[in-house]
Amino acid sequence: MPLARSISVTSLSGLDEWDEEFELEDAVLFEIAWEVANKVGGIYTVIQTKARLTCEEWGENYFLVGPYTESNVRTQVELIEPTSAVLRRTIDKMNSSGCKVYFGRWLIEGSPYVILLDVGFTAWSLDRWKSELWENCAIGVPWFDREANDAVLFGFLTAWLLGEYAAQCDEAPRILAHFHEWLAGLGLVLCRQRHLPVATIFTTHATLLGRYLCAGNVDFYNNLAEFNVDKEAGDRQIYHRYCVERAAARCAHVFTTVSKITAIEAEHLLKRKPDIVTPNGLNVKKFSAMHEFQNLHATSKARIQEFIRGHFYGHLDFNLDKTVFLFIAGRYEFSNKGADIFLEALARLNYLLRVNHSEVTVIAFFIMPARTNNFNVETLKGQAVRKQLWDTAHTVKERFGKKLYESLLVGQLPEVSKLLDKEDFTMMKRAIFATQRQGLPPVCTHNMLEDSTDPILSCIRRIGLFNSAQDRVKVHTHSFLSSTSPLLPMDYEEFVRGCHLGVFPSYYEPWGYTPAECTVMGIPSVSTNLSGFGCFMEEHIADPSAYGIYILDRRYRGVDESCNQLTTFLFQFCQQSRRQRIIQRNRTERLSDLLDWRYLGRYYVAARHMALAKAFPDQYMYEPHDPTSTSGFRYPRPASVPPSPAHSLHSSPHHSEGEDEEERYDEELEAEKDRMNIRQPYRNKSPPCGSSPRDQKLSSQII
Ligand code: UDP
Ligand code: G6P
Ligand code: GLC
Repeated sequence: MPLARSISVTSLSGLDEWDEEFELEDAVLFEIAWEVANKVGGIYTVIQTKARLTCEEWGENYFLVGPYTESNVRTQVELIEPTSAVLRRTIDKMNSSGCKVYFGRWLIEGSPYVILLDVGFTAWSLDRWKSELWENCAIGVPWFDREANDAVLFGFLTAWLLGEYAAQCDEAPRILAHFHEWLAGLGLVLCRQRHLPVATIFTTHATLLGRYLCAGNVDFYNNLAEFNVDKEAGDRQIYHRYCVERAAARCAHVFTTVSKITAIEAEHLLKRKPDIVTPNGLNVKKFSAMHEFQNLHATSKARIQEFIRGHFYGHLDFNLDKTVFLFIAGRYEFSNKGADIFLEALARLNYLLRVNHSEVTVIAFFIMPARTNNFNVETLKGQAVRKQLWDTAHTVKERFGKKLYESLLVGQLPEVSKLLDKEDFTMMKRAIFATQRQGLPPVCTHNMLEDSTDPILSCIRRIGLFNSAQDRVKVHTHSFLSSTSPLLPMDYEEFVRGCHLGVFPSYYEPWGYTPAECTVMGIPSVSTNLSGFGCFMEEHIADPSAYGIYILDRRYRGVDESCNQLTTFLFQFCQQSRRQRIIQRNRTERLSDLLDWRYLGRYYVAARHMALAKAFPDQYMYEPHDPTSTSGFRYPRPASVPPSPAHSLHSSPHHSEGEDEEERYDEELEAEKDRMNIRQPYRNKSPPCGSSPRDQKLSSQII
């Protein structure tokens, strides 16, 4: 029997030592999620951005498992032959028994292998599998819940795949299977129920009950311990889904979630405390030129401005150079994502900007996919009118240039009054007439299917933000973005770069990728102390707002107070000068290292090691510590400009002086990051991001 090895999952130096001894070579990692090569929300982002790092660690022994969808495969996956003999035998066996299993490479960074299971093809087994589920696990899935039916098919297929793989191995296999979210959770339950030789991890990215309860106007956080979970799930007709989720959490060797706040929620609602928190990272791209991201902001902003010129044709009575672009984006969960308080704060901001005679105009974008049928005519017309004005200006310019050139050719200065003739004026007047419109610029780009009951539109009607000339705040709702849209042909990333501030005042947000993505692109954002991201940043930054990370208090304040706080954030932001915005963006971007998988991937490593040690105790052993204690690196308060824009108005240094201080501060921060090894990938000999005495001493020195 191999020697039992001891590991400590708290200390990263412990991990590193363990990493060096630990032979992963014959272990195989399967990572299973409904969002593998299938974009729905943030889980896709977790899997997709983490792939490169996991491939580096596990090489040929890493397989992602997801559902097969023809359109996704056509655009994202290259189908190939299975790369190992065991896998080939496994897939052949399943395919000859009535399944359709595909193997390929997902065409993203790291090019991970994917195994895609066609759930529709095995739908004929649904009834049989459901009765098996009922007999063995006492979970009954109703016929009408399509998503749950898919979860059953996917779960049984996954368990079949893992069982078959284990059976095809010549030697005792060491399989590690990491399942994400309830939709993939049944596979885990079946692995355990069938006693497969598989170490299992379950990561929940939100709890079903949490999402449902919060969306239903419940005082969620104050009653976490009180909910009668079975009844609540039953009342919402999600009892069967809840059972799958809870069973997966309880059966896993290691249970993880994405933030501390969701860990508390899971403990109450799923009745198991997560073994470790695995915060979400991103694949941070570093530009060779330091200020490249600032240039990208300027070019993307110019494209958004162009769209606005068209959308507000005939009403362009505001200065686009003094216009601030705010946005909220994500799944259309009106109150969970905080769209409700954002709208309310915008109404208050509108009032404040008006009474203060501010020159600033705010345009707030709502990028949330609602049910629509097509673009509305008025919106399309706006872009057509803009194009016509552009063409007219271009034609007149050409004619003007020709006359000027001809005059110069004969050695004369042109007579200015003759450079434009009657025809030019007629053309220009016609173009100006075309910009007249009857109504106000529309607040949405699409014809909404449920216009009268749509929560955003209903709220806009109530607060009266209709894009009128007096409004200093204009609103604009838009479906998910696409680079092929005829209106605003930009993908989401380009759009974010062009905005000034992302506003994500979520009430229910286990992590929240949208503000994290803003941060690595150097765009400031608002999040909340009820979101995993907000809490994480609060823990790691001494003065978050100085870095453009505004964290709204939704935990200890009532809705109205939070709304006032948000209004204050927004109003202060609008008072910043361009120079202050540029400095703030530089600071925001400096936080990227903290959100890089190279730093955060270590928690996944810890979870995997823990699971292997639990499932194969003869071979591995670990010393349990409290792995969730992650206080470590803390970004110090910036040295120069005071934290909030409002305060900085009087006391912020002169430009050149400010820049000098910023540069000095930059150097100090970079040196600090090096000292703390924040940029070291977890496989190097790096110190813990957590709680060694040395770290605590260092962090206390820099705060
Ligand atoms: N997103 C997108 N296109 C959009 C808006 C959002 O691709 O137009 C992505 C965004 O980049 C993020 C994800 O959707 O990665 C949303 O993840 P988040 O964790 O914020 O919320 P979730 O939807 O998972 O609750
Ligand atoms: C970037 C560009 C600058 C531009 C600025 C606009 O920093 O490098 O050239 O002036 O963005 O910033 P603003 O916050 O006004 O969009
Ligand atoms: C879930 C959560 C979101 C999180 C994402 C990825 O969809 O709602 O907050 O960022 O999963 O973990």
